[in-house]
Amino acid sequence: MNVFLQTYGCQMNKLDTALVSSALREAGFSLTDSVKESDVVLINTCSVREHAEQRVFSHLGHLKHIKETRPNLIVAVIGCMAQRLGANLLDHEAVDIVCGPAQIPQITELVKKAINEKQKNLAVTEKIRQKTNDYQTDALEKFESAYGIEDKRIPGQAFVRVMRGCNNFCSYCVVPYVRGPEVSRPPAKIIEQIKKLAEAGVKQVTLLGQRVNAYKYTAGEKIHCLADLLETASDINGIEWLRFVTNYPSEEFFDEILQVMADSPKVCNYLHIPAQSGSDKILHAMNRHYTAKQYLELLDKARAAVADIAIAGDFIVGFPGEIEEDFQATVDLVHKARYKNCFIFKYSPRPGTTADKGLKDDVPIEVKKRRNTELLAVQETISGQLSRDFLGKEVKILVEGPSKKPHLNSAVGEGRPQLVGRTARDYIVVFNGPASLAGEFVRVKIIKTSPLTLFGELM
Ligand code: SAH
Ligand code: SF4
Ligand code: F3S
Repeated sequence: MNVFLQTYGCQMNKLDTALVSSALREAGFSLTDSVKESDVVLINTCSVREHAEQRVFSHLGHLKHIKETRPNLIVAVIGCMAQRLGANLLDHEAVDIVCGPAQIPQITELVKKAINEKQKNLAVTEKIRQKTNDYQTDALEKFESAYGIEDKRIPGQAFVRVMRGCNNFCSYCVVPYVRGPEVSRPPAKIIEQIKKLAEAGVKQVTLLGQRVNAYKYTAGEKIHCLADLLETASDINGIEWLRFVTNYPSEEFFDEILQVMADSPKVCNYLHIPAQSGSDKILHAMNRHYTAKQYLELLDKARAAVADIAIAGDFIVGFPGEIEEDFQATVDLVHKARYKNCFIFKYSPRPGTTADKGLKDDVPIEVKKRRNTELLAVQETISGQLSRDFLGKEVKILVEGPSKKPHLNSAVGEGRPQLVGRTARDYIVVFNGPASLAGEFVRVKIIKTSPLTLFGELM
């Protein structure tokens, strides 16, 4: 039996797909790159913006059409949309299985059942904000430990979840309603998993949490924070680089995290710390617990503690009530923050969130688009300046593999395709070299730059 997998959404979802794909392979299924050759299509979905959901619906529309001639094709929808829409999604003609993020340990059983019994099946959490029960947490822990070392997508790299869920309730955000309450995983399990990954040849581990810097696990007298995890993981042989995403702008544990970043050569000097807006009025309406000034003070602190730290951010433009003055405050903050790069999103109302219930989506789409373009342009100038500093310099990168969109100098002779890798500070570098370098550290001299990409020559 062949399974076709498709993933939308964040790193959490990519990690879930990796776990599910390992579980399915162990159960005797094979993976395929083509829907045509598949017996099962499994879609891991995201609900963060309406657009992400629309793409899944159009995919499902296509699958419905395919099922007219191939009625035995099984379609499983897992992930955040599965949890959000539950039974309504199961009503879709194309869908056989709906399985939430907390139910993925059941996925092979659900797929086998669908094949054998030809019945639709729903597995989601009924009351998503209720404290997760021990049985469910145990099942997720076992699943994570059993399949957490198989991720072969990018050689030498892996993701490790340190927390599930989120309790932050930013007013625009659906995540707390689809991923449930915040739970920090036991440090021993996390470290054990990183050790296994290192034994399997992994060199870079990225720790994942929706508010990863809020990681907190109490064992007896001791409170373990993210800095403790990073410190312990730094001692593991074979692990060269450690990263963590995403950070919430808060003082809690911040000094400790910066300290371990400054002290350990293995902890990459990179901080993804979204501001979302530069207007205090909007930040308040977003239920973000800081002002623009406090946010910038955190960045100052980070830059003082860690030499050459690279900082990245996220912004939402067109949040309800955002007038030109608020947007200018965001532009101003972007100028001051000097991000390496940032991700900019147009506000998308999400059903069930407090922003959607209480605030009118009153910024017209044209205005959202204009602000998005304007902010991107501001950031592009800054990214361009920061990138240019690398001209003529030598950098160490971890090679990911062949570049997906070969730029300009696409190939230099046989056997030297364009490869892509990243520096410890998360700068993207492309260069020509043998594909066998994927998963290796190499040194590259930068000969050309663009705002988001450095172009280099293998040393
Ligand atoms: N937990 C992470 C990531 C959350 S989702 C964090 O707090 O940073 C990733 C990004 O999507 C967010 O940082 C935010 O910028 C954006 N986002 C979330 N909900 C959104 C919405 N309703 N409309 C537009 N962008 C949204
Ligand atoms: Fe969403 Fe805020 Fe939690 Fe991030 S911290 S997942 S934006 S609620
Ligand atoms: Fe991630 Fe999207 Fe879910 S951003 S947590 S996959 S809603």
